[in-house]
Amino acid sequence: MQDKILDFLRKKTDYISGDYISQRLGITRQALWKHIQDFKEAGYDIEAVPHLGYRLVSVPDRLYPFEVAHGLGAGIMGSRVYYFDAVSSTMDIAMRLGLEGTPEGTLVVAETQTKGRGRLGRDWSSPKYKGIYASLILRPRILPAKVPVLTLLTAVSICRAVRDASGADAQIKWPNDIYLGAGKLGGILTELNAEADTINFAAIGFGINVNNDKASLISGASSLKEYGGEKVSRVALLREILRRQEENYRLLLKEGSAPIAEKWRYMSMTLGRRVKVYCQKEHIEGEAFDIDDDGGLLIRTDAGLTRKITSGDIVHCR
Ligand code: BTN
Repeated sequence: MQDKILDFLRKKTDYISGDYISQRLGITRQALWKHIQDFKEAGYDIEAVPHLGYRLVSVPDRLYPFEVAHGLGAGIMGSRVYYFDAVSSTMDIAMRLGLEGTPEGTLVVAETQTKGRGRLGRDWSSPKYKGIYASLILRPRILPAKVPVLTLLTAVSICRAVRDASGADAQIKWPNDIYLGAGKLGGILTELNAEADTINFAAIGFGINVNNDKASLISGASSLKEYGGEKVSRVALLREILRRQEENYRLLLKEGSAPIAEKWRYMSMTLGRRVKVYCQKEHIEGEAFDIDDDGGLLIRTDAGLTRKITSGDIVHCR
């Protein structure tokens, strides 16, 4: 009902009569009035003028399900949205929903996380209303060994969406960190529930620093606001990410991982650089010259050997 009422309010730039909305939706004027009060409490600015009706003045930048889903169409991504004001980690909820059989494309979003987690056992700082903290459930029919491509795909979707929504020149640091200049803007964490040869579901979590001020950013991190000097709509950015994710996921299912790897190469800040990595008790250094279609990083060492890295963190040299 909330999304339908909002649709009426959004369609008009001037007043729309309460009688008209309530008749069209088959609810009483009192019920409509109650919904309008709830919207106001949730941060919507709605003017109510006797004999004229209601007018939507402004919408808050909250990741409410009816805001996130607005204009997305009937795709897979965001087909269900679970919203939390605060949560331990959206990954905890996503893993539980996945086990309960929630449909592919289910999205869990939170305004803050008390135990946000990153890769390699790190924490993910999640200040309230500043960033995007979300987990998406996918159920692709691919082998568990191919899962890294889902992370590559999500990095490509986020990078593209950031570029489109803010104009910032985001890039991907292997394997799936999103960077703006020298600062980390976002990261992706994929957790899996799988059998030996089948994926039951993957929960793909992503965190993006959007409107964080310098004080709320950890060292080495950047935010869209710090970078561009202006606030960016988190709702608009999340919608764009879901649109891109829909497009790229369909491409993966239809054509396999090669076109996704190609898009990744185009957005990479790692390829062509000298990198260092500590992998399986060994230091490897050389030029990162390509990724394979599964997302493994190919490094040419000074001895002219090609080494493939499939996990861990690399350091960009110089
Ligand atoms: C990384 O770069 O280490 C990955 C960070 C992933 C953070 C996101 S925020 C939403 C989701 N919930 C979490 O606890 N982590 C992921």
